[in-house]
Amino acid sequence: MKVKKAVIPAAGLGTRFLPATKAIPKEMLPVVDKPTLQFVVEEAVNSGIEDILIILGRNKTPIEDHFDKSVELELELEKKGKDDLLRNARDIADMVNIHTIRQKEPKGLGHAVAKAESFVAGEPFAVLLGDDVVYNGEKPCLRQLIDVYEEKQASVLGVQTVKSSDVVKYGIVDGTQIEERLYTVQGLIEKPRVDEAPSNVAVLGRYVISPDIFKVLKETAPGKGGEIQITDALLTLSKQQSVYAYDFEGRRYDVGDKQGFLEATVEFALRDEALKENFRAYLKDICRKL
Ligand code: UTP
Repeated sequence: MKVKKAVIPAAGLGTRFLPATKAIPKEMLPVVDKPTLQFVVEEAVNSGIEDILIILGRNKTPIEDHFDKSVELELELEKKGKDDLLRNARDIADMVNIHTIRQKEPKGLGHAVAKAESFVAGEPFAVLLGDDVVYNGEKPCLRQLIDVYEEKQASVLGVQTVKSSDVVKYGIVDGTQIEERLYTVQGLIEKPRVDEAPSNVAVLGRYVISPDIFKVLKETAPGKGGEIQITDALLTLSKQQSVYAYDFEGRRYDVGDKQGFLEATVEFALRDEALKENFRAYLKDICRKL
């Protein structure tokens, strides 16, 4: 079966980014001039996704407004002859079918994904975390995972190797490498201590999942941090059917973390044709001075 639907959970509290996230979801914080969530939506669209469900929490209005038509803004840009900006504003609204649903309380990523059951309607689906941006100028990260799903017809987790000291931040895979970049998953552990991590292979915000996960999620008890963890549900799924992990190609930024957000801002500015020359000169100069 082809993967045509994606779920983007964006209902977390974003406590690492307070006070900026008090009234604005962290997924709306801009990297240069584009909200993080738009990078994620564009990755899904460029990977062949046709319908997206965004899971919203409190402060949901800015996200709904961003992907909606803005008649006043479009009229104003038209009047002023700002054609590029007008095209841009229209493109955002026309890019893909966006649906939304509310997760009333942030009870964990597994709990958020469970909200997507009727949207997914028995099809395999992608999950992209709304605060993880992956840059790949050639083949989007999600497309790489969908290709594996379509070949194996089994769930695939997007992974990369992280530093040992960083395993505490991620779901960590206990796997066996079977091909270049591809592992079979035997175990998964959410945010392990450094001494209990089975590897440094971390799940980084991209998944393609069999709809069988919904049955498992219904029986998944709260885990680490008292939250219903998608990692725990995927571990159960891996005992019932094959689950793969794919070491995707791309530069990944955790934009929900201050360091990751700053790295994304600097690197996307350096990739921007209009900004890069002056910005590079500025960075060199300021690094000498400060
Ligand atoms: P995080 O754990 O990074 O989000 O979840 P958080 O809880 O908002 O972060 P901090 O630690 O308080 O800063 C990863 C993704 O899952 C979503 C978040 O919005 C984020 O995109 N999420 C998390 C939900 O949608 N619902 C939840 O209950 C938890």
